[in-house]
This record gives sequence, C-alpha cells and structure tokens, in this order.
Amino acid sequence: MDLLEVMRKRRSVRTYTEEPITEESLTKILQAGLLSPSGRARRPWEFIVVQKRETLDAMAGCRDGAASMLRGASCAVVVIADPEKTDVWVEDCSIAMANMHLMADSLGIGSCWIQGRLRTAGDTSTEDYLRKLLHFPAEYRLEAILSLGMPQNHPAAYELEQLPAEKIHRESY
Ligand SMILES: Cc1cc2nc3c(=O)[nH]c(=O)nc-3n(C[C@H](O)[C@H](O)[C@H](O)COP(=O)(O)O)c2cc1C
Repeated sequence: MDLLEVMRKRRSVRTYTEEPITEESLTKILQAGLLSPSGRARRPWEFIVVQKRETLDAMAGCRDGAASMLRGASCAVVVIADPEKTDVWVEDCSIAMANMHLMADSLGIGSCWIQGRLRTAGDTSTEDYLRKLLHFPAEYRLEAILSLGMPQNHPAAYELEQLPAEKIHRESY
C-alpha cells in the first residue's frame, strides 16, 4: 500500500478486542518510533512499553476521562523526554508518536494518542500520576501515551476529495 493510502485509512481507534497485539507488530511500531527524525538528531525521547493489565488499568486514571480506552487496550507506549537534551523535545516526541500511530494502523492495529503534557488527573498532573506509577526520573517530561489494541471498531477512511484544501495557501496567505 502506498503511504498516502496508509494515511488516508489511519484513524484513532478507541475500542479494542481482547486479542493481544503480537510482539512482531509491537516491535515494528517501536522501530517506527525509533526511526523518527529529531532536531539535531538528539533523540531526546524514551518509550515506556506497558503490557501488564493491572498497570494499564491504573494508567486509565491518568486523565479526567480521556484515557479510559486504556482499560481495553492490549498495550500502551508512554513517550517521555529529557528537555535538557533539546529545546524541541515536544516536536521530537510528537513525531515519534505520529510515526508509531501510523505504523500501528498500517499493521491493522488500532491506536489512539492520549495527550499527557499539560493535562491533569484531578489535583495532580497526568505527568506526576504516571511518574509515580512508572517510576521515570524527575527530569523527564511526559508528552503523550499511545494506546494499542486489535480494533473493535475502526472508523472509516478519509476521502481525498473531502480534505480541507482551503487550508493550503500558495505563494502567500
Ligand atoms: C495532539 C493530540 C492530542 C490528542 N489527545 C487525545 C486524547 O487525549 N484522547 C483521545 O481520545 N484522543 C486524542 N487525540 C486524537 C484526536 O482526537 C483525533 O486524532 C482526532 O479526533 C481526529 O480523528 P482521527 O485521528 O480518527 O483522524 C489526540 C490527537 C492529537 C494529535
């Protein structure tokens, strides 16, 4: 399948069957993350892979509502970075997230970006909630979590004709 076709079919998938994702697919998804470009090739990110049911269930509480799909997920990849390594860590982490999300969809695995940075779980930040659970160092900042699972419902592909072409400005705005 050509890359545009993969992108056209990619959607956020929030409901999963109980079937676990294969290690082979997980490896490819993580490789897609590791292949991501980063500013000055600093690769400031680290990926925490969570597959234990108990931990995934606890992680579902990391956002007020918005992370509940983790209760049904087979796996999650938590993307964190050390801001001391680069001032573009947010961009670097976002690219890694997008690459893993796209790779997952191309392999028939459902995934969804769960925003972590700037988000809360009650009185605590999502970052501190996950730091306590996953024990990442204080200097690391949370970007986002990618939930992964075999899709129960995969939303329809986009149609190229329906893309918001008016957002493209040629030569000047
Ligand atoms: C930066 C970013 C943050 C997002 N945060 C969440 C989130 O916290 N929870 C969630 O369910 N989806 C989240 N999403 C998924 C978007 O809601 C989704 O991409 C959007 O609705 C378009 O749908 P599509 O991905 O199926 O094209 C996020 C996506 C991005 C790129």
